[in-house]
Amino acid sequence: MDGKTTRACLVKMKRINESTKVFTVESLAQGGKLHPIQKAFIENGAVQCGFCTPGMLMSAKVLLDANLHPTDEEIKTYLTKNPNLCRCTGYINIIKSIKIAGELIAAGEGHSELESEGERVRSTQLYRHAIDKVTGATEYGADIKMEGMLHGKLLLAEYPSAEILNIDTSAAEKVPGVAVVITAKDIPGSNKIGNLHRDQPTIADKKVNYIGDSVASVFAETPEIADEAVKKIRVEYKVLPGVFTPSEASRPDAPIVQEGMKNNLCNHALIERGDVEEAFNQCEVVVERSYTTPFLEHGFMEPESGVCFKTEDDGITLLIHTQTVFDVRSWIAENLDMPEEKIRVVQIPQGGSFGGKEDPIFEVHLALAAKITGRPCKLVLTRTESLRIHVKRHPTWMTFKTGADKDGNILAVKASVTSDTGCYVSLGADVLANMVLFCAGPYFVPNLYL
Ligand code: FES
Repeated sequence: MDGKTTRACLVKMKRINESTKVFTVESLAQGGKLHPIQKAFIENGAVQCGFCTPGMLMSAKVLLDANLHPTDEEIKTYLTKNPNLCRCTGYINIIKSIKIAGELIAAGEGHSELESEGERVRSTQLYRHAIDKVTGATEYGADIKMEGMLHGKLLLAEYPSAEILNIDTSAAEKVPGVAVVITAKDIPGSNKIGNLHRDQPTIADKKVNYIGDSVASVFAETPEIADEAVKKIRVEYKVLPGVFTPSEASRPDAPIVQEGMKNNLCNHALIERGDVEEAFNQCEVVVERSYTTPFLEHGFMEPESGVCFKTEDDGITLLIHTQTVFDVRSWIAENLDMPEEKIRVVQIPQGGSFGGKEDPIFEVHLALAAKITGRPCKLVLTRTESLRIHVKRHPTWMTFKTGADKDGNILAVKASVTSDTGCYVSLGADVLANMVLFCAGPYFVPNLYL
């Protein structure tokens, strides 16, 4: 704005007047031809999910307007100052692209079509998606607008472990502009969801097991109305003791998280070969250490988003951020008691996922809202909600004992890995099995106890 890098979402409209010069990513390309910065970003692999790309391009433009030959350090300082974050690329290709774009402009290159990769690349999806991303044409979930669209807000659990005694939605329903308030009572089907096991309530009605469980949702004419109404839902809880680490969960007197289970163990995997104890006796070197890894947030730039609408054949279409379209279709079919053929799940462009968009989040809320109201319904999580709901990379507690002969051949590995998958299985059982599988790394080890 007026030649300065500006974050559009933070600018009050009253700051804009007739003389203000506003230049956006949409105005970078001209007459269907790309600006050298856009070309350089595509040709040098600086565009991946594309969520950061408009900001990166506009920062690059303002930087290059002042200095066509910035150093790596000047580029890093400029992007940090503004600030521009990218989760996908590791920044190296972005920095490279900005430098190349500066050189192109200095050499007199103007707007042009992307040519260097030739027709082969032009015809691929990658090319088309890259063009959309550098021109601001890509529609992420939050960008989708449909006529008559309702906006949703989830009510999440107040406690990590509590019995639900009562849910009163009457005050929320009376808020002008509210179209529907959804609770577990609206689910005609199973009210069960999950990846490897259906061990999670789609909408909690008896017990909550973590602060990301949804208890209700509101769909209203505007996001603000949905926000106001969801605060009026009254939930009566009886707080229960919880367990928060595998060591707490494995105590004999630990509360059982999943009803009907004998204990809190999700999965146990064992690989055994040869005789590790005998092999350690013959080893020249034995190293034993303990290691831990923490919970890890995937850090995708775009929080979860999606839109659902009814179709003419009395089915529904869901445009959603997911990495697992067929799982989503099954969840909706089971919860809405609908045939799968009536449900179409479309994966829309994602502002990153990194394995963090595989679990159920709000798909059934959206489908129910669209089915009940007959109107398109949209839900976009805030960053806080996203962090609270989605499953993180499992933290682990590991001990490794490794023995080798004097030539460095590994003769034995004995390892123990404990992993925390939280209150639901999610993909945790498979993740644990994979961890065990990879404990010996890429080596052939004749004696294993993993
Ligand atoms: Fe930068 Fe995905 S390409 S966040």
